[in-house]
Parts: sequence; C-alpha cells; structure tokens
Amino acid sequence: MYDLIKNADKELYDSLIGETLRQTEKIELIASENFASPEVMEAQGSVLTNKYAEGYPGKRYYGGCEWVDVAEDLARDRLKELFGAEYVNVQPHSGASANLAVYFSFINHGDKVMGLSLDHGGHLTHGSKVNFSGKFFDFTPYYLNKETERIDYNEVEDLAKKNKPKLITVGASAYSREIDYAAFRQIADKVGAFLFADIAHPAGLIAKGHLQSPIPYCDVVASTTHKTMRGPRGGMIMIGKDYQNPHGIVAPKSGRVKNMSEIIDSWVMPGMQGGPLMHVIAAKAVAFKEALSPEFNDYTIQVMKNAKTMANALIDLDYKVISGGTDNHSMLVDIRNKNITGKDAEIALDKAGITCNKNAVPYDTQPPLVTSGIRLGTPAMTTRGMKEDDMKTIVEFIDKVVRNHDNEDVLNSVKNEVKTFCSPFPLHKKMS
Ligand SMILES: Cc1ncc(COP(=O)(O)O)c(C=O)c1O
Repeated sequence: MYDLIKNADKELYDSLIGETLRQTEKIELIASENFASPEVMEAQGSVLTNKYAEGYPGKRYYGGCEWVDVAEDLARDRLKELFGAEYVNVQPHSGASANLAVYFSFINHGDKVMGLSLDHGGHLTHGSKVNFSGKFFDFTPYYLNKETERIDYNEVEDLAKKNKPKLITVGASAYSREIDYAAFRQIADKVGAFLFADIAHPAGLIAKGHLQSPIPYCDVVASTTHKTMRGPRGGMIMIGKDYQNPHGIVAPKSGRVKNMSEIIDSWVMPGMQGGPLMHVIAAKAVAFKEALSPEFNDYTIQVMKNAKTMANALIDLDYKVISGGTDNHSMLVDIRNKNITGKDAEIALDKAGITCNKNAVPYDTQPPLVTSGIRLGTPAMTTRGMKEDDMKTIVEFIDKVVRNHDNEDVLNSVKNEVKTFCSPFPLHKKMS
C-alpha cells in the first residue's frame, strides 16, 4: 500500500500508514464520517486532478475538457436521479462552500435569516458569529424545545413572525429527529421567506426515501457528499424544479439571468470558486452510482437500525439520549449523570480505541470546548458490516470506559478488546 509514496516521502508515508491503522483498529463513531469505497478513492486519486475546467460542461473557460465534461455530466445526472431534482451543482468544494453559494444566491449582505443555533445542533454556517454566515447576515437562532428536545414548529413560527427573515435555514449537525420540511414550508410562506434545507448529515437516508425529502418543499437544498452519502469530501446543491429568478436576486456574472439555476451556478463559479476539483467530481459520480444501487438501500436501512439499537442500549444503561432516541444515523448523549464532561469522555474513549466527539447538549452549561455530551453515529461502522448485536457490544465498551475513565489499565484493556472486535470487519466491506 502507498508504495510510491513510501519510496519518495517516508515522513508522509508514516502519516498515511498511521491513519490507515487508526481507522482499521478503532471504532469510528463520529456521526459525520464514513469510509468511502476503494472505487471512490481511485477516482479521487486519478489524473483528473491535473485538469483545469473553470465553467460547466459544454461551457468551459479552458480547452481539453471533453473527458472531464463526461465525468461532471455523470455526477450531475446521477445526483438528479437520486433525489428527483431538476437542477444540481456538484462543484462546491465542501458543505460550507455549498452553503456560502446558497446564501449569496438568495440574500444580500445584512439580510435577516433564521437557523438552528449551533449549541442546539445547528452548524457553523447556520449563523454562528465566528463564521461568514453570522458575520455577513443578520441571523436569529431558533432553539430546541426544553422539554421535548426537538424542534418546536410553533416556536419557530412565532420567531419567524417576529423577525420576518428573508430566508430560513433548516438542517443540523447534531439533531437525531426527522425534520418536517412541509411544516417549515408553511412557516416560510407565512412570512414570505425562502426555505433552504442543509441535509449534509442525513442526505444518504433521504436519497433512499427513509426520511422525508426536503426537495418538494424547499427553494434550495445543499449537502455534503461524504457523510451518509459515503462519497468523497465535498458539497452539492439541488433544486427540485427550476424556477424564475425571484425579484431582487443578483448574480455575480453580468448578463441576462432568467432562472435560479443560473444564479446558483454563477455564484459557485465565478462567484466564489475558481477551477472545480474534477477528480473529486469524478469520485462524486462514482459515489452517486453506488448510492443508486439496492445495496446502498440495504446499507442505509442498516445504518438506521444500528442507530436505534445503539440508542436503546445506551438508554438501558441509564444514559440520557437527547429527545429519547433517534430517527436517523446519529444521537446526542447527555452524560452529566455519569459525572464526566464531554471533553473527558472523548479523551477516555479515544484512549480505549473509540472515536467520537464531545458535543454541546441543548441548554448546556459547559463551555463549547468542554460540553456535557457526546455525539455518536453509525454510518462508518455500518459500512464495515456491523449489525445490531455489534452496536450492543460497542455500547458495553463505551459504558466500561465512561465508568472507568480515570483507570488507564481498564482503558488499555478495552483498547485491545476493541482491536480484536474490529478485526473481522474490513474497512471497505460492501454491504450485502
Ligand atoms: C449540517 C452541516 N452543514 C454543513 C457542513 C459543512 O461541511 P464541510 O465540513 O464539508 O464544509 C456540515 C459539516 O459538518 C454540517 O454538519
């Protein structure tokens, strides 16, 4: 493995091997991570990285684009089929870039927006003060209901009526419940706002129809391609049915702009990006083909079954799973009753071979770098072929670590058990 790099660059080789071993020997529970297939990685490591292709298929600013056009058209066509979308853009380098292009396509500097607060599960790009979104636009956060720990659509409506946002962002990084996009559409219509769904986390589950799709209800939808979609690291933007440029929206490119699709295309490039990453777009095409397969459907069903099993096993051991469970691939666990912070749990679990991230829980009293919770997800270990019983074993490991987080001997012995437990599950096992 990595034979060429081994000879050319020993220091970097060590990092690649170290990371390969880390991924192989540890239990990966970061809800936003997954293991892309060897085919996805082959495309990403291909000669397409050499090509400049500013523009879009058939309309490039560079010559020699006939083969990269094929790759981008494949990615676009497959993505349209997956989500039933008339328009897609597969060029955003990341989820954050996709969101940036969306905001610039719909609203102007200083406009009012609403998004789920970061400390209640929202994302940085949903209005955090340290992010471009919070700096460029006037965001009002909405929060989860204190009792249900779910989105309270009445509260969102009241807030929207009070604030009159021009756009409402819906979506999250740490929210385990199904989102009712139809309810959000009604709220947006009552206040005359655009509705933007960021489905970076559950995209793969939505693509296979296991969660409500935002496509029929939202003016625009964006996502990452590397979480439940199991593709290369990147972003994408979609519209269910293209429509005429609503009044007041500007495109960075001069000339006549009739449709929303043209505005978004021109905000992605030249508005905020130069040359597209054609090797990544080719890898997106591979991932979208995989996602269209029946095997991927089985995979997404298993991801959700595994998440439910994990949440229930945690609850059985007296862990407080936020909102009492999960509808998707992830869960947030408040570990205050176990007398440990999110930060210390993350560190102890990592020492024991279990990777997850500390995460604020709703109405957390700890600072963001400490937190009272951990976020767990099943996409990665499900890719390795794990099923419900394996989730129960993982929860037993977690509990042992949390109960003995100060005991290095226990952490070491769990680490060895974890390594043995993981060994029958190769990283790139295809789901049957
Ligand atoms: C809801 C949501 N949107 C956007 C992003 C940003 O994606 P990226 O890290 O690719 O910029 C994330 C990443 O975690 C996310 O969870």
